Amino acid sequence: MKPRELVASAMVPGEAAALQCWRHDGAYSLWIGRTELMSSRVHESEELLADVVVQALGPRPASRVLVGGLGMGFTLARTLVGVGADARVDVVELVPEVVAWNREHFGHCAGKPLDDPRVHVIIGDVGATLVESPDAYDVVLLDVDNGPEALVHPGNARLYAPAGLLVARAALRAGGVLGVWSSAEAPTFAGRLQGCGFTVTTHRTRARGRKGPRRTVWTAIRR
Ligand SMILES: C[S@@+](CC[C@H](N)C(=O)[O-])C[C@H]1O[C@@H](n2cnc3c(N)ncnc32)[C@H](O)[C@@H]1O
Repeated sequence: MKPRELVASAMVPGEAAALQCWRHDGAYSLWIGRTELMSSRVHESEELLADVVVQALGPRPASRVLVGGLGMGFTLARTLVGVGADARVDVVELVPEVVAWNREHFGHCAGKPLDDPRVHVIIGDVGATLVESPDAYDVVLLDVDNGPEALVHPGNARLYAPAGLLVARAALRAGGVLGVWSSAEAPTFAGRLQGCGFTVTTHRTRARGRKGPRRTVWTAIRR
C-alpha cells in the first residue's frame, strides 16, 4: 500500500486549526483537522461553479472576475476557459501558503492557472476585498468553505449571511453574477439570496459523475 504523506501545513489566520496538505498515490488533499476540504481527484462541482456562472453572465468584453478562494485552482482554471482573453481575474486566498503550495506542489493538477497573465493574486479575506470593491466585478465566485450551512471556518458565516450577500451584491456591476458552492443542500439559502436582490437558480449535482456526495451550486444574478 502506498504511504500517505504530509506535504505541508499552515496556520489559518484568526483560527486555532491548521490547514494540512497531504499526498497519496499522486493525488493531493487539503484538510482542517479531520475534515477534508477537497481532493485533487474530485473537482467536477468546483468546475461546474465556474461553468454555470460564466454561462449566466453571457459574453461581456473586458469582464472582471473575483474568485474566492484559490484551493487547488480548479474553479479558477475553468473560469479562465470561459472568460475572454481581455478578462481580469482576481483570486483571493486567505492562507498565503495555499498560493505557495499551488506553485510548489499541486498546481499541475488544475493546469497551473496561476501562470495565466489574466490572474492577479490577492492574499487576504474575500469579505474584505468585497467591501473595498463596490460596483467592480461582473462575476464573484465563492468557494471558501464547505458552504452556507457546513462551515469549517466559523468566521466565514458572515459571507453567507444577508449582510455579507448584500456586500457581494454591491461589488457586482449591473447584471453581474454571484456563484456559490456548497457541500450541503442548504435549503433556505436560495430564498436568502432572493431576499438580497438576486434572481436565483439552484444546481444540484454530485461530487463525481453520478456518484459521490451531493453538491449544490447557486447562480445569483444581480437584479
Ligand atoms: C474548498 S477550497 C476552494 C476550492 C477551489 N474552488 C478549487 O477549485 O480548488 C477553499 C479555499 O478558500 C480559502 N479560504 C477560506 N476562507 C477564506 C476567506 N474568507 N477568504 C479567502 N479565502 C478563503 C481556503 O484557504 C481554501 O484555499
